[in-house]
Amino acid sequence: AHTRWATHGVPNEANAHPHIAGRVAIVHNGIIENHARLRAELQAGGHVFTSDTDTEVMAALIDRHLDQGLDLREAVLATVRELEGAYAIAVLSRDAPGRVVGARRGAPLLVGLGIGENFLGSDAQALIQVTHRMLYLDEGDVVEITRDSVQVCGLDGAPAARAVHESELSTDAVERGEYRHYMQKEIFEQPHAVASTLEARLGPHGVLPNTFGVDSDALLQATRGLHIIACGTSYHAGLVAKYWIEEFARLPVSVEVASEYRYRETVVPEGTLFVAISQSGETADTLAALRESRRRGYLGTLVICNSPESSLVREADLKLMTRAGPEIGVASTKAFTTQLAGLALLSLELARRHGLDPDRYIALCAELQHLPRAIEDALQLEPAIIELAGEFIQRQHALFLGRGAQYPVALEGALKLKEISYIHAEAYPAGELKHGPLALVDEKMPV
Ligand code: BG6
Repeated sequence: AHTRWATHGVPNEANAHPHIAGRVAIVHNGIIENHARLRAELQAGGHVFTSDTDTEVMAALIDRHLDQGLDLREAVLATVRELEGAYAIAVLSRDAPGRVVGARRGAPLLVGLGIGENFLGSDAQALIQVTHRMLYLDEGDVVEITRDSVQVCGLDGAPAARAVHESELSTDAVERGEYRHYMQKEIFEQPHAVASTLEARLGPHGVLPNTFGVDSDALLQATRGLHIIACGTSYHAGLVAKYWIEEFARLPVSVEVASEYRYRETVVPEGTLFVAISQSGETADTLAALRESRRRGYLGTLVICNSPESSLVREADLKLMTRAGPEIGVASTKAFTTQLAGLALLSLELARRHGLDPDRYIALCAELQHLPRAIEDALQLEPAIIELAGEFIQRQHALFLGRGAQYPVALEGALKLKEISYIHAEAYPAGELKHGPLALVDEKMPV
């Protein structure tokens, strides 16, 4: 089942996974960019499609390769070599009972190793209730699993060995407990998540040594400016950090959506640190931006991320792990606030090295120490917030306004409302209201 959206065509049953062609069934995460051409070729050969998706094209290609006498694994290999774009897939064939073939490029996929059973999943937290032993696949890998075997090969078909990791996630972390839904649970986990992110990194005299890794000293000392790249909520966290770093460390910061960055040319002043922010560490645009940054001449790369074993973390020079724990709700909550906590540490560390008054530095550190308590107080407002939400529930639109670092927070508020309630919302810097959007404000518009 596929319950949220379809990347191709409308979200209806025909466009929902799995997709089937002949004897093949497939589920897919990602986007195939040359699907239109492949679809046209298959249609010219007489194939009739039943959905609008790029995924069904893959199913049809695999089925055609099976017709040519290849076995399932070879047919998947031959198919993925024809694809441009991102995929993590799991494939079954009616003619190969007891076998599942998976493949990944640009989207995460791992194998959960059980006893007399094996699993494919996008993320360790999806499998933690059935096994703790995980085998992470590399870019381009194809894997065939049965009940008691796992065979990995690279895109060239040569066998490959991948290390097995024992996941440290606890099953409690992915259970809903007393809460009505995961997002509510994750909102209430914020004080703990933020406290964990600061733990052993912030002391009474400031940010502790090696918070950004043992190799961070020279890089942070040489930093003359920052480019921050991210998507969605993580992008908003980056925008907040721009206000902090420019004010406290007096270093110039530019923040850009990863999908824009990767498709344009940028100017990189000497001494610029590239910073990527991502909850999952697997967002395709952010990962592509990090890889692209290698040829653009940065001082180094830093990743702020919540998933220790993710591709972004593996590929960056410096890393700061947010310790939010698994975030299951699609709309980011505790991941956002822990990113802000991590970015506050970065801002303070840069400020200390680049001339902030020591008394101000200590005062800011003390405020940051207090943050988990302040969040706890804010969460006490839940009953009042529920009452207010009742007043807004019938509204079609909302405007969020904020000045300074509260402007990106307004952007995040508007994103949250859209993503979760399907109510249209926009955010503006407070001073911009009078320059156009005011025209929309009437007695029905919450501001
Ligand atoms: C989007 C999600 O797909 O990815 C957003 O809907 C999220 O909620 C964005 O913020 C970026 O994700 P990540 O994992 O790179 O922080």
